[in-house]
Amino acid sequence: MSETILVTGGAGFIGSHTCVELINAGYQVVVVDDLSNSSEEALRRVGQITGTTPRFYQASILDREAMDRIFEENQIDSVIHFAGFKAVGESVQKPWEYYWNNLVGSLVLTDVMRKHGCKSLVFSSSATVYGDTDLPLTEECPKGNPTNPYGQTKTMLEQIFTDLYVGDNEWNVVLLRYFNPIGAHPSGLIGEDPKGIPNNLVPYIAQVACGKLERLGVFGDDYDTPDGTGVRDYIHVVDLATGHVSALQWMKGRTGVEIFNLGTGKGASVLEVLHAFERACGHKIPYQIMPRRAGDLPTVVAVPDKAREVLGWTAKYDIDDMCRDSWNWQSKNPDGYRG
Ligand code: UD1
Repeated sequence: MSETILVTGGAGFIGSHTCVELINAGYQVVVVDDLSNSSEEALRRVGQITGTTPRFYQASILDREAMDRIFEENQIDSVIHFAGFKAVGESVQKPWEYYWNNLVGSLVLTDVMRKHGCKSLVFSSSATVYGDTDLPLTEECPKGNPTNPYGQTKTMLEQIFTDLYVGDNEWNVVLLRYFNPIGAHPSGLIGEDPKGIPNNLVPYIAQVACGKLERLGVFGDDYDTPDGTGVRDYIHVVDLATGHVSALQWMKGRTGVEIFNLGTGKGASVLEVLHAFERACGHKIPYQIMPRRAGDLPTVVAVPDKAREVLGWTAKYDIDDMCRDSWNWQSKNPDGYRG
């Protein structure tokens, strides 16, 4: 019988793409999502892509009774935990909400898990935990000091899940540190659907490209990088999703805590991404150089060797593929799932 995976935050951007790859790999998928920053339509479209719509519970992971019911009604083998607030700037304005939702929600989730004998967890962490360092970003690199509550919650949760294993060796935890996920499913049916004006680079470019926003502000052109703009390790969300499937397959039957970077190992500057997007959409995208954004680093690029060597996983898509699929999604769904 196939294994059943509970995906928290499964209606979100990375969650919905991971549902597709899980179903394609033969897993049964159950989703819990409070829809605070996502849409149930995403799950309907997962059904359109795969032929199977995940079983859906609309609930917050803070809701212990609802979480209990999910574990009573389903034989959950592992949990992939995406649910959480994720906007860096907003987290500075609303620290209490970020700590409450992300930390307490995760504590409720893991408490319900252990009560039901499910101690297998994949957590969506972030490259943000490395902070400001000149060292190569391998998993052994010491963690930095996050400059915002969002980053703090990722760092703290990595510690909490690690300590769970220290206290109870039956836990089986994989911490996946994502670099910059962009792109969309090649079908154009699911993608990133930010509320309001996007904070992140590619969703912003996509809305300039389709005429919803006037021009991109490039946050700084005086960094110590080849063209002076910030360099990041952009990774196609479908590659990221298959990384979760590889992690699940690898961790089966194990216990412990293991960390993997999920990135391509290749950096692209803001202007390189902009030009790749211009190639994808077929026209120029207006931009303007602006001051640096507080808290931004010059270069953040993964060393992805461990995931390749241990999980047998590597990213397949390049920046042109990512921009092509972002544009495909954006042009087919100009108003996201509301359209
Ligand atoms: C940010 C978060 C990171 C989080 C990730 C995903 C920070 C410091 N980091 O990564 O913790 O996991 O989002 O949500 O905020 N840029 C522009 N103009 C824009 C937007 C971005 O020039 O309008 C530049 C940035 O300066 C940066 C690059 O584009 O060099 C990527 O920015 P973004 O997409 O926001 O991601 P990160 O800041 O790398």
